Amino acid sequence: MSSKPVVLIAEELSPATVDALGPDFEIRHCNGADRAELLPAIADVDAILIRSATKVDAEAIAAANKLKVVARAGVGLDNVDVSAATKAGVMVVNAPTSNIVTAAELACGLLLATARNIPQANAALKNGEWKRSKYTGVELAEKTLGVVGLGRIGALVAQRMSAFGMKVVAYDPYIQPARAAQMGVKVLSLDELLEVSDFITVHLPKTPETVGLIGDEALRKVKPSVRIVNAARGGIVDEEALYSALKEGRVAGAGLDVYAKEPCTDSPLFEFDQVVSTPHLGASTDEAQEKAGIAVARSVRLALAGELVPDA
Ligand code: NAD
Ligand code: MLT
Repeated sequence: MSSKPVVLIAEELSPATVDALGPDFEIRHCNGADRAELLPAIADVDAILIRSATKVDAEAIAAANKLKVVARAGVGLDNVDVSAATKAGVMVVNAPTSNIVTAAELACGLLLATARNIPQANAALKNGEWKRSKYTGVELAEKTLGVVGLGRIGALVAQRMSAFGMKVVAYDPYIQPARAAQMGVKVLSLDELLEVSDFITVHLPKTPETVGLIGDEALRKVKPSVRIVNAARGGIVDEEALYSALKEGRVAGAGLDVYAKEPCTDSPLFEFDQVVSTPHLGASTDEAQEKAGIAVARSVRLALAGELVPDA
């Protein structure tokens, strides 16, 4: 039997991850989204590497008898019970900058897609339909973009969409207005942002405070022409409230990468032609996956060697 520390890779990660781990570990694989596979597999490993589909909750932590590190190859830690891990002496690491450009680029893509109906027109044309007037869109230039959460990704989106001539405003109670001003972004209250925005893009972590933040009350304050993008986490934009707002013409369109329950292959929101949906692709580029894999592999190596793990 191998005496090397065991690293469990519970989701598909870039091959660069295993290369960066090197020869000093026994590598095992499992499908972390399948609890019946995850719980026995985590029992005797030293580290687990995950993306967003594996829930490392209190039950999984309790099932792990020698776990030392949970490594999230990405940003969001909402699928890890950090407090249960900490209580059990398990370190939690992530790769907080690995995919920010990639995620920002997808959000910008969704903004463009909702403005110009690109996926819908593409699907219709490939179905033999030449429908030019049906897919008339709206311009981005001179429009107001409301960024909810002006952190790493929100700031990159603000910068990129400014280049399209958009006026950018933001809601983020934790950002210094001077820092926002440097970016050419005006900080507003959430209500003000909802009232003035032609497009809204959400870049918040999923926390008890942010779940449902863009819910029924918020969606009654927006312009009926607003298009809303959520490439952060499902549930921050309440799906039922968004459904009603779209149905009643109180919201003109949405671009969604994330869903309250994933995988999500069947949502009432998919009935709307004006909803553009992607299957949680925000971090899915070769570049981001490679960076995330290498970053967490490095953190796992350091942590299992008992060395200090610097912020990535
Ligand atoms: P970040 O921590 O740099 O920025 C988050 C911002 O939200 C911060 O500025 C913070 O002040 C603000 N914030 C926190 N709580 C808030 C609240 N209650 N109200 C208003 N603002 C609040 O994070 P980031 O790197 O920009 O990532 C944002 C989120 O995007 C991640 O937490 C992750 O869930 C998600 N994400 C999704 C994908 C994807 O594949 N779709 C990829 C990467 C990240
Ligand atoms: C993240 O939070 O980094 C993303 O959800 C990435 C992922 O898909 O793993």
